[in-house]
Amino acid sequence: MSGLTTFKIGGPAKLFARPADVAQLQEITGVARRRKLPVLVLGAGSNILCDDAGCNALVVRLDAPAFTTVQAFGTRVIAGSGVPLARLAAYCARKGLGGLEFLAGIPGTVGGAIAMNAGIRDKDRTRQIADSVECAWVLDYNNNVAVCMPEELGFAYRSCALGRRIVLAVRFSLKRIDPAKSNSRIADFRARRRASQDWSLPSAGCVFRNPAGDSAGRLIDSCGLKGRRIGRAQISRRHANFIVNTGHASSADVLALMKLARSEVNKRYHIRLEPEIKLWK
Ligand code: FAD
Ligand code: EPU
Repeated sequence: MSGLTTFKIGGPAKLFARPADVAQLQEITGVARRRKLPVLVLGAGSNILCDDAGCNALVVRLDAPAFTTVQAFGTRVIAGSGVPLARLAAYCARKGLGGLEFLAGIPGTVGGAIAMNAGIRDKDRTRQIADSVECAWVLDYNNNVAVCMPEELGFAYRSCALGRRIVLAVRFSLKRIDPAKSNSRIADFRARRRASQDWSLPSAGCVFRNPAGDSAGRLIDSCGLKGRRIGRAQISRRHANFIVNTGHASSADVLALMKLARSEVNKRYHIRLEPEIKLWK
């Protein structure tokens, strides 16, 4: 998994599959479920900390052409779950369709962004992928293809009630925009985040969710933890809610830093930080 996650951490998956299409996906997930082997869907691996010992699961990556097409129909766009967010934003800009520009700076895929309800804070407002979702095609609990409306997906801050459902494709409802304006928004979103976040070393972005009305980064920073190292993992000097892998860090190193940050913030502010990243083992 270290080669498949942006953290560059994690041992092997028990099984790994890259199905060519939905029928193959149904076949392999059907077998895994009958054998009681958990199925974990991997997007770009940008929000995952996998255990050093690997994970006892079938890991499925939906990066075949059947899962990576994007097509516009008027002001609607249908994107496969394996489409990288930067490609989706660039495609929409080219077509003169606005609303998803903020996704360009998030290093995930459409499926991962739905599962996490990926978003950003833009001045005083929050932008999240859920705001533009019209419907999603999923493999449901019975391994059948089904269409889900947003209210059936249970979107909340950095979460979605997908359960074991697997996102196959998503339809977005967008607004007409001048392509040049859309491209300049993309450039602006990218520049702003690179100025305040740590993109120089492997990480999984923000490790903790923000507590209501505050920022986990600010809280960890104010405990004086920026730059603190355990093993080869380090609390970023640029953004305290990023933990970076300075080279061959272990998942144990990262978990130990997370424990330290939680305990210091709890001691000082009586706030319990909750992880945003998904722990796979
Ligand atoms: P993965 O990390 O591969 O998976 C995340 C979760 O989604 C897992 O539970 C996985 O099983 C599930 N999943 C993936 N695909 C599917 C599917 N097809 N069906 C069902 N479940 C699926 N996030 C933000 O919201 N805002 C940010 O500004 C932001 N900035 C970041 C900056 C950096 C430098 C990094 C490294 C990460 C950042 N992130 C940010 C976190 C991350 O990029 C997002 O959570 C992203 O949406 C994860 O997408 P992914 O494809 O990488 O998913
Ligand atoms: N701050 C500090 N010290 C730090 C980091 C931040 O004092 O080390 C302060 C900043 O100065 C600012 C405030 O905290 O006043 C908020 O910081 P920032 O604008 O960086 O936003 P954030 O709340 O830390 C959230 C998201 C990010 C997203 C940014 C920008 C969460 C957990 N994080 O970060 O998402 O990119 O806003 O919109 O919601 C992610 O989810 O992985 C992620 C990176």
